[in-house]
Amino acid sequence: MSARVLAGPPVAAALLADAAARASRLPAQPNLVIVSVGDDPASLSYVRGKSRKAGEVGLRNTVHALAETTTQAELLTLIDTLNRDDDVNGILVQLPLPAQIAEAAVLHAIDPRKDVDGFHPLNVGELWAGRPALTPCTPAGIMFLLEHHGVPVAGARAVIVGRSHLVGRPLAALLLNADATVTVAHSRTRDLGSVTREADILVAAAGTPGLITPDMVKPGATVIDVGINRVLKPDGKGHLVGDVHPDVAGVAGALTPVPGGVGPMTVAQLLANTVRAAELQHA
Ligand code: GUN
Repeated sequence: MSARVLAGPPVAAALLADAAARASRLPAQPNLVIVSVGDDPASLSYVRGKSRKAGEVGLRNTVHALAETTTQAELLTLIDTLNRDDDVNGILVQLPLPAQIAEAAVLHAIDPRKDVDGFHPLNVGELWAGRPALTPCTPAGIMFLLEHHGVPVAGARAVIVGRSHLVGRPLAALLLNADATVTVAHSRTRDLGSVTREADILVAAAGTPGLITPDMVKPGATVIDVGINRVLKPDGKGHLVGDVHPDVAGVAGALTPVPGGVGPMTVAQLLANTVRAAELQHA
């Protein structure tokens, strides 16, 4: 038996349709500003994808692509200007940032009401307190995907492999808020397989290609692959592969593909967060 494929694009389309309908009821189309620093090709490609999708659903958006040599003070000045501009509803600073810029200083500087990434400590705290306001896009997108496909979360055993601030930690809070029993495993976890085999919902967010092998998965489990790893195949071309080994499809009950699983959910959730931020600002 091969696992049911939990495809992202149709679910992302449902989320986007809802966001576009809500946006049309606001006094002005929500306005998202995306800031990138430097020339990392992967980051620039993600930023282009976010801007393109924003335009497709009718959101106003601007990209500030700053030079690799941008100082922290210059970036903070731009953020201050965007914070003060009432016509800007959402601000996203693409991560990672070059070494001369302290990520924490930047995330603290963004107005929490415009923080469409949900990375400001105030939004992080509200999420862990069980009062989520703006929540990180990839974890929120995963929750929407699970709900849309009717995967039961309340009472389920969820294991997340990876403890990043972008995915593992906020997803743990969201799953806990939805009444799952949550374990966060990581690179120092002893006997990882004995932990992952407990999972009804297994989330691989470690950034290690093929980390999750069939022997690590409980038969019938729902497996969410957050990995986006660029690897060179023998044909000399670059391919995207996830953190889940392809043979897991023979054991899991349901599985997200890479590409075309979680990735489109992240972008859709960013735009939904932008509409949410605008709604909160207009309320
Ligand atoms: N880099 C990789 N994922 C993300 C994300 O969700 N938000 C931001 N700002 N940067 C990222």
